Amino acid sequence: MRRRVTGAQTAHMAATTGAQGAATTQLDLELATELPRLGIEPEWKAQQRLWGHPFHPMCSYLASFPAALTHAFIARYSRPGDVVLDPFAGRGTVPLQASAEGRIGVGNDLNPFAHLLTASKVEPASPAEARTRVARLRLAWPAAAPGYLARARSIQADPIHGGPDPVPAEVALAFHPTTFAQLLFVRDSLDLADRVDRFLAAAITGILHGKSASYLSDLMPNTFSMAPRYVRDYAARTNFVSSERDVFAGLSSKLDRLFRAPLPGSPGLSLLGDARDAGRRAATSLRARGLPDRIRLVVTSPPYLRVVKYGYYNWLRAWFLGFDPQVIDATLDDAHHRAPYLDFMREVLHGLRPSLTDDAIVVLVIGDVATDRGRRISSGHGLAEQVWADAAAPEGYRLAGVALDEVHALRKMTKLWGDEAGRATQLDRILVIGATEVGRRRALTGASVPVDWTWPPRLRGL
Ligand SMILES: C[S@@+](CC[C@H](N)C(=O)[O-])C[C@H]1O[C@@H](n2cnc3c(N)ncnc32)[C@H](O)[C@@H]1O
Repeated sequence: MRRRVTGAQTAHMAATTGAQGAATTQLDLELATELPRLGIEPEWKAQQRLWGHPFHPMCSYLASFPAALTHAFIARYSRPGDVVLDPFAGRGTVPLQASAEGRIGVGNDLNPFAHLLTASKVEPASPAEARTRVARLRLAWPAAAPGYLARARSIQADPIHGGPDPVPAEVALAFHPTTFAQLLFVRDSLDLADRVDRFLAAAITGILHGKSASYLSDLMPNTFSMAPRYVRDYAARTNFVSSERDVFAGLSSKLDRLFRAPLPGSPGLSLLGDARDAGRRAATSLRARGLPDRIRLVVTSPPYLRVVKYGYYNWLRAWFLGFDPQVIDATLDDAHHRAPYLDFMREVLHGLRPSLTDDAIVVLVIGDVATDRGRRISSGHGLAEQVWADAAAPEGYRLAGVALDEVHALRKMTKLWGDEAGRATQLDRILVIGATEVGRRRALTGASVPVDWTWPPRLRGL
């Protein structure tokens, strides 16, 4: 039997019964479906897959959301000049979209790969800087080639002892020897602390592996790296030899695609750190640059309960960037189950509060997780509602409502598990809350504001 319970009642019950940490019950799930719906039509579904700035698809990233979805909230809930933050920025969709729409886009992530991708988008190289650097690398290559070709062959013959550092066998076999030699050279040459080099490194991660001729290795699809053992077995079974690809030519073509549009118009920031103190760090960095330091809009999709291993599924990109996939996963692996996840989300929302404007709006895109890497779980259902009741309401946020997004979730998880997708995340719930009652009212009023889907945006009309 279903009971009708309002959002406020849900929050009250959670607060008074200490629902936090309790096992999910049928009643939890029923309560979870009773939050008010917010009348935001998911118009982002109707936009083209690559809607938005050409930097968005620089490199694939698991569980990233479409740029159009972020526009639906950035356009409604912020104005040019406002600070827009994503504390779990991933590949930087929100900060990039915000910067491209005249806002100050701030991204934060604990994954160094995500941090690098975001930084390369919100503090990019200019076309001239990037092309000049590629030309310099290309010119330096002939002199360096003999040494690097010898090293590449030696590593491919013996990945552990063949070079100055051990290279995972699955990395060594992924490339044609000449391509591998060029990559080793570029990898040694690029300084990730340098803005221009970082941009080139991020662009290369986007062409490292994939099935078409624009990718440097044709061993795997471009979305994510397959399990290393599977790759090694497959390569041995099929006598795999990757096609020869020229790194400089591939990178130049990638730059042409990235620079099809002008650079994002407003400044942006990429921060590396835990979401729990992202607000404080964002304010400090914004102040240091003489920018407004209060955040008017947060749009984010927090990591799902144990759904994605960002290191494991990116081992080839991690190797190129000099990151250890196991360290990445150990660092991010902080919320396996529902109760600690809700505690974690409460700490995140607590940490954000002091840095928000009084009328700030927080938009949390949260999927219902039906499987945990293929295994069915029940604790993922109604997660957005639980986040409201156990994390946001106790911190004093005000509920505006929940918008739903079915298609996006399906598309997103298809990337991860193929046919398994239909049984993975089934529905994204978009929880919209105000920092105060003023924020809640602004969220309600803004929900009915029509959004201009013209791209590039007409900034004055927003
Ligand atoms: C669902 S993804 C966000 C994807 C993003 N919306 C995009 O479009 O690319 C969640 C992100 O949370 C990050 N993450 C996990 N734990 C974190 C933590 N404690 N602090 C900050 N980021 C964290 C992961 O690295 C991942 O990038």
